[in-house]
Amino acid sequence: MSAAHVDAVDGTDVRTAHQDLHSDRGALRGEHPGRSRNPVVKVADLAWLEFEKPDLDRAEVFARDFGFGVAARTERELWLRGTFAGTPCMVIRKGRTSRFIGPAFRAAERADLDRLARATGSAVRDLRAVRDARDARDADVPGGGKVVDLLDPSGFPVRVVHCGEQLPALPEQRPLLLNSGTDHRRRNLAQRPPREPSRIQRLGHLVLETRVFARALDWYLDTLGMIVSDFLFLDGQRDRGPTMAFVRCDQGSLAVDHHTLAMHLGPGNGYVHSAYQVTDLDSIAAGGEYLDERGYKRSWGIGRHIQGSQLFDYWRDPDRFMLEHFADGDLFSRDLDPGWAPMSTSGLAQWGPPATRDFLGASPSPARVRDVFRALRGDNEMDPARLLGLLKAANS
Ligand SMILES: [Fe+2]
Repeated sequence: MSAAHVDAVDGTDVRTAHQDLHSDRGALRGEHPGRSRNPVVKVADLAWLEFEKPDLDRAEVFARDFGFGVAARTERELWLRGTFAGTPCMVIRKGRTSRFIGPAFRAAERADLDRLARATGSAVRDLRAVRDARDARDADVPGGGKVVDLLDPSGFPVRVVHCGEQLPALPEQRPLLLNSGTDHRRRNLAQRPPREPSRIQRLGHLVLETRVFARALDWYLDTLGMIVSDFLFLDGQRDRGPTMAFVRCDQGSLAVDHHTLAMHLGPGNGYVHSAYQVTDLDSIAAGGEYLDERGYKRSWGIGRHIQGSQLFDYWRDPDRFMLEHFADGDLFSRDLDPGWAPMSTSGLAQWGPPATRDFLGASPSPARVRDVFRALRGDNEMDPARLLGLLKAANS
């Protein structure tokens, strides 16, 4: 697979950076192939993420400042969306505590839900009926359709949905016309990007931490047909297998986000961050200034990642959930094999400020310390060598 050659403008054959970064540093003999031979289905994308929060008003203020639009709001649910047509990006339900529930993936076709239900012993249900059972007043929220509810090996509820309704596109934040070198696209016009919230276009990816990384990864590959773009391993422990994977959807020749899901081994099972696409670097920067002026806390940014190449900026919402603005990410078809690289903090970005302690979770809370003790005692993939390896990676 993967002769990733492109023709340059002058017609010459050029080796892409992807080849240098991935194919030349691919799997060793016998290592994880990064895809399943015969998955149950191949999901098309993430549809939305589900959260619970006690205060929907406060959640809506942050959501609008961060750049979401509101697709629907009831007493008990807040549906957030981007400007692109499709499903909403996020639902926040009123709950006693602030917590992440799980992701919903978009089935490529309706028949995939039957296949999934048969293979997993679950049922295809009406999405609206599921919601009606919780609260009849919420029957008008967008995204009606069918759903199969699953549980991944880490314990996250995972939904696969097929939606009847599509939200129509909203007006876009236009990318700036840039003058670069001798390529002058803007003449007799000033550059004045407005100081306003970024405008979210769509949900890009979700990152999870899990104590059962290998089992969870295989579940997503075997059940949802996702494929690995990049593996990371602990320095000196490559023979024990990868401890992080950036995973994309398999849409054949269609190039899709480098990662829709990323998972890494850790002492906890939990949400790490979710990422939302905006139009360009100026949208990230001006939107970041807007958030900063309103007193929100930047976790890490602005920079450019290595795995996925996205321009990134990470923020904390009022409940300390991490959300990312990103732009200009890599798009891969199924033709590319996984890359392999050691896990390190310096390997997180091509440029940008050093990764912060906040981003790395390097200031352990009592809950985090409890996670570590529980993980080391429990039946999972964490052990002292791996814990040490993760700590070394965080400091390298
Ligand atoms: Fe991210």
